Amino acid sequence: MRNAIVIAASLVLTVGATAARADEAADPIVTAHAERLAVGTCGTCHGVKGVSQQPKYPRLAGQNPSYLAAQLKAFRGQQRGDPDAIGYMWGMSASLEDGTIDALAAYYANQPAPAAGPSQDAAMVARGREIYEKGVESAGVPACSACHGPDAHGIADFPRLAGQHAQYVMKQLASFQNNMRNVAVMHGVAQALKVEEMRSVAAFMETLP
Ligand code: HEC
Ligand code: HEC
Repeated sequence: MRNAIVIAASLVLTVGATAARADEAADPIVTAHAERLAVGTCGTCHGVKGVSQQPKYPRLAGQNPSYLAAQLKAFRGQQRGDPDAIGYMWGMSASLEDGTIDALAAYYANQPAPAAGPSQDAAMVARGREIYEKGVESAGVPACSACHGPDAHGIADFPRLAGQHAQYVMKQLASFQNNMRNVAVMHGVAQALKVEEMRSVAAFMETLP
């Protein structure tokens, strides 16, 4: 666990420096172009303000901007390889320039984060909280809170998970397990999670504001 925290801390430092440079470079024409795209194109799936109602489409509102920018670059570079990434986001991101990506990331980061989702089965949510805060020690699964933060708001490249659609979260955990979404850190975290555990932790996170 100590290793994970060290990795977390060094990632945050690198990403923090990049974000500061992006702010200085914000160009009003690029910002206006990104807002038109967000409202007119991305909004049809993700919601105009990034709070999609359909669980297939992840919520983007209040997400950390450096995470959003990194994901748009991962779709553009065809590195996120699950079927929905290929089917929906490879094409959407193919012609986005870096400046537009940064401006889109800033647009969603500045929208009010989604409210807590509907309440769910209490026992499942309680089990999910336990996994989130303590991991599954017998299976070597670390606490999610070590990287995603005590309130699941994430930081820098560690995404916000609070208020995200549980169904989307489940799908991502499965994609980390089978490496269709190939990220070493989350593969290590997710590989030993059972379906029931994934469902519980996803339900818990959706109930968080
Ligand atoms: C036709 C529907 C559709 C449109 C339009 C669309 N997306 Fe997506 N987007 C998706 C789907 C589906 C996913 C989930 C992919 C997966 O499961 O891997 C996604 C994922 C994402 C993610 C990853 C979120 C996360 O939490 O990791 C970002 C960021 C994103 N889209 C941004 C955009 C932007 C910016 C645009 C406009 C330029 C856009 N999307 C347009 C359907 C869409
Ligand atoms: C060692 C740090 C670390 C730990 C511990 C960790 N994560 Fe992650 N997680 C990450 C990173 C980094 C990413 C972003 C991956 C990427 O760049 O695509 C991520 C991404 C995710 C995503 C994708 C979010 C999205 O919007 O697509 C989910 C879901 C997730 N983690 C769930 C969990 C759960 C559940 C746990 C606990 C069982 C957990 N994580 C523990 C580092 C961690």
